[in-house]
Amino acid sequence: MATLLTNIRLLAGTHAPSRALRGQELAILPAIDDAYLIIEGGRIGAFGRMSELSYKAPDFSQTIDLGGRVVLPSWCDSHTHLVFAGSREAEFVDKIRGLSYAEIAARGGGILASARMLNETSEDELYRQSLARLEELIRLGTGAIEIKSGYGLTVEGEIKMLRVIRRVKQSAGIPVKATFLGAHAIPPDFAGNRAGYIELITQTMLPQIAAEGLADYIDVFCEQGFFTPDETERICAAGAAVGLRPKIHANQLHVSGGVQAGVRAGALSVDHLESMDAEATKTLAGSATIGTLLPTAAFFLRMPYQPARELIEAGCAIALASDFNPGSSPSGNMNFVVSLACIQMRMLPEEAINAATINGAFAMGVQDEVGSIAVGKKANLVVTKQIPSLAYLPYSFGSGLIERVAVNGELGEP
Ligand code: NIG
Ligand code: FE
Repeated sequence: MATLLTNIRLLAGTHAPSRALRGQELAILPAIDDAYLIIEGGRIGAFGRMSELSYKAPDFSQTIDLGGRVVLPSWCDSHTHLVFAGSREAEFVDKIRGLSYAEIAARGGGILASARMLNETSEDELYRQSLARLEELIRLGTGAIEIKSGYGLTVEGEIKMLRVIRRVKQSAGIPVKATFLGAHAIPPDFAGNRAGYIELITQTMLPQIAAEGLADYIDVFCEQGFFTPDETERICAAGAAVGLRPKIHANQLHVSGGVQAGVRAGALSVDHLESMDAEATKTLAGSATIGTLLPTAAFFLRMPYQPARELIEAGCAIALASDFNPGSSPSGNMNFVVSLACIQMRMLPEEAINAATINGAFAMGVQDEVGSIAVGKKANLVVTKQIPSLAYLPYSFGSGLIERVAVNGELGEP
């Protein structure tokens, strides 16, 4: 039986573009005032203006009056490291005292610290910690998520992470995509033997991951002190040979050539982009690759924000994601990501919402299932508290304006 949602003050995101929105298209967020929405079999069955609602309440098992509330497609968080062990708040304090992210990494902290903890944690415990994090994010409005490996850096550790992602996917109820990020850092056992670690990734990890069908995408941290553009392209080519399309970390700390390497490798997305120059922007704008901006990572590391306006004006397709991880963004709250994008990167509310929903869906290949209000898509929805307008959502940052969420059409309690 179907559920009828009535008196929706604003139903936003009523579109189904055939490719990621780019340039000026990003500001167009179609919406219906005073709307209804019908959920059937967990999916969006119909929607329109209240004045045109021809069905009667008895046709539905449930009718819910949403007077004054705004309904949006739920957030599509296309870049996270949600599976990790423990936390790194001691480094957070070191950063407050003045150490940089790169200095912490160079003395064995950072990614390597998370790798030590991960390799000491059982698969069951890792699953328990990860699922608890995801359940919190779903309550905050996330309705699809991409999760990376990359804190194992050993064959066993990487496979353990990807198996945990698979278990999380089986119990989450929302679309989950898995990305293999073996090339996140050179582990200490391979210090001075980069080629050996890259060979381990391409010759041992990838075949096993492919055989078990554990990943949808491949990622490389293309950055000074981590992996070069050449190494990135080689690793991406090995991934492509087993059917994994790249989604890479590029231009976070330096203008590294990562954007160009990603575009050459046919990446679905190049992510971070704090450090851009005209050449990288032009390359991205002239490609089908999505630029995924991670403003909470820039916020947490006190780095310059991604140049969203320049990228939009150059005609790039951009998405917003949380980068949820223990080192540079220990929060997966997409409401805050959207607020920061508006406040610090001068994205319009409509642009930020599109970037965090439909373009996020494209950036992880789930655009046919989620990311907008369209008949046949999953009814993964966000219902706000009573708010005066859409712009109030990013404006009133940090105030917890998501009243309830629907996952597969199941509307949670307010
Ligand atoms: O996306 N930049 C590389 N990877 C993560 C940070 C990982 C960590 O510090 O644990 C990021 O910011
Ligand atoms: Fe990341």
